[in-house]
Amino acid sequence: MAVERTLFIIKPDAAGRKLVGRILAHVEDKGFKLIEARYTRITREQCNEFYAEHLGKSFFPELVDFMTSGPVMLCCLEREAAVATLREVIGATDPALAAEGTIRKLYAESKGRNSVHASDSLASAEREVKLFFGVAALAH
Ligand code: RTP
Ligand code: MG
Repeated sequence: MAVERTLFIIKPDAAGRKLVGRILAHVEDKGFKLIEARYTRITREQCNEFYAEHLGKSFFPELVDFMTSGPVMLCCLEREAAVATLREVIGATDPALAAEGTIRKLYAESKGRNSVHASDSLASAEREVKLFFGVAALAH
């Protein structure tokens, strides 16, 4: 298995409920190493670029409003098979369908306010890490 880096975001609903420390501890306990992190607000422009694949979908305006509604914790994480493993650790998009013990099952409020993001492929991970942390964060 190859060591990979992936983008993880603790979304505004979780940050607003003071779950940042607990969720970071959860991913560290799953073997992820923090490479870079920034607690910040993202702009609508950044969000449009980040979620470009969803542009034009019915939920897109709501998604952008939510993601820009408060601070987020942007993280570049590293582990063997980081991309697939982190998707397993966060659980299904809709917390009602997420497996027991996953972050979304534990903390998400709804399909929209679902607490965390994780890149869905190695190509997405590279694009997303570069978008928020620059190309240097991919070098290892
Ligand atoms: P994310 O990108 O945030 O990690 O979520 P994901 O891969 O599990 O799901 P994705 O299909 O990429 O959707 C991005 C976010 O849009 C919201 N969504 N709402 N109402 C709906 O049918 C719907 N579908 C997606 C979710 O908040 C999802 O996290
Ligand atoms: Mg996605």
